[in-house]
Amino acid sequence: MGDEMILKGQVLSFSDSPFDAPPQDASRFDEALVLRDGKIVGIGGFADLRKAHPKAEITDYGTHVIMAGFVDAHAHYPQTAMIASWGKRLIDWLNLYTFPEEMKFGDEGYAAEIARRYLDLTTSNGTTTICSFCTIHPASVEAFFSEVQSRGQRVVAGKTCMDRNAPDGLRDTAQSAYDDSRALLQRWHGVDRISYAITPRFSPTSTPEQLEAMGALWAEHPDCLMQTHLSEQVDEIEWVKSLYPEARDYLDTYEMHGLLGARGLYGHAIHLEPRERDRLAEVGAGLVHCPTSNMFIGSGLFDMGGLMEAGQRVGLATDTGGGSSFSMLRTMAAAYEVAQLRGNPLHGAQLIWLATVGSAEALHMGDKIGNIAPGMEGDLVVLDLASTPAIAQRERHASEIWEAMFATIMMGDDRAIADVWIGGKRFEENAR
Ligand code: GUN
Ligand code: ZN
Repeated sequence: MGDEMILKGQVLSFSDSPFDAPPQDASRFDEALVLRDGKIVGIGGFADLRKAHPKAEITDYGTHVIMAGFVDAHAHYPQTAMIASWGKRLIDWLNLYTFPEEMKFGDEGYAAEIARRYLDLTTSNGTTTICSFCTIHPASVEAFFSEVQSRGQRVVAGKTCMDRNAPDGLRDTAQSAYDDSRALLQRWHGVDRISYAITPRFSPTSTPEQLEAMGALWAEHPDCLMQTHLSEQVDEIEWVKSLYPEARDYLDTYEMHGLLGARGLYGHAIHLEPRERDRLAEVGAGLVHCPTSNMFIGSGLFDMGGLMEAGQRVGLATDTGGGSSFSMLRTMAAAYEVAQLRGNPLHGAQLIWLATVGSAEALHMGDKIGNIAPGMEGDLVVLDLASTPAIAQRERHASEIWEAMFATIMMGDDRAIADVWIGGKRFEENAR
């Protein structure tokens, strides 16, 4: 039996979805949790846990909130250096800023440098699991997974596949995308806490042959996730329809090629048609809301209320670097603002749930990460609810914990992240 640790503070967990039950009832705050061998083994009152674990070392976080680490369900780590690029909408933004930067990732040294910086930034913002696109270069996947491996964190990522409508030097082929993805999957999927996601970028940058090859690979490896983009901008949707005239709608371009399923993750999903909504709900696919990106690139307002009501599986994500922040706190604030514009004020518990349980369930990892319960992995974030003078004042003014939490959600940044635990170890103590 490994060493035991008791962490004391305000321990937040969810017993229910705050979209199904009243938010206050769906969440609870306990006094402490116990970690052993990288996992959570207890949660409850401090005196009881102390009695049951008399030898455990105690870390006392006072009134800080201890909760599951944030899960970012859609990001592009290679876009770290070109985040906040001005003035373009999706297709021009890809051509002018994104593709030239992604071109650099054939160099594994550069990829490793950016992977390190990206992981440092996300960890200091309290994100413990990421689902990321890489670039077309296998080296970009190798660099990311190698860096992740030394940190012991749970991630999902894959080689981005595109064989048309991308510049010279940034295209693969249907066959090479299949071969390279397969080799990477075989090398990395299930190694430590790493999962491989089959990753066709989006329908405009793949030929039907490439989508078909990705569909075949997914059918051969059905336990893998598949990630892509769906219905982000109106112009993009028109383009997809002209490229795939036989498809019923954007989703059908994936469905026709074996790329629709419960383990599919569809980023953005803003301008969905009724058939698309029905099919996504029917198969239990994961929709990923990327609110800072949707505002930054001018894409549109995700229908959180309608989609949750329809029982869709929804996660939350930064979409770095179309998204304008590495912070899931900032991303929750943006989700609140977008929902407000649609007349649907989200409760703080709903926002936190989306950034943890919701994203974890979208990744089919809800039994491992995203919540605090015995048996879950020890990925935690410790939130200081008084991290700046303005937030501290608002916190003193709050009459209950969710009112204080909401101020940190709306105004907090990496200064609110008092500590991060990955796999049961304090991040600073990890082998770095
Ligand atoms: N659609 C296809 N590629 C991308 C990307 O890199 N970012 C965003 N936001 N949308 C995309
Ligand atoms: Zn994206």
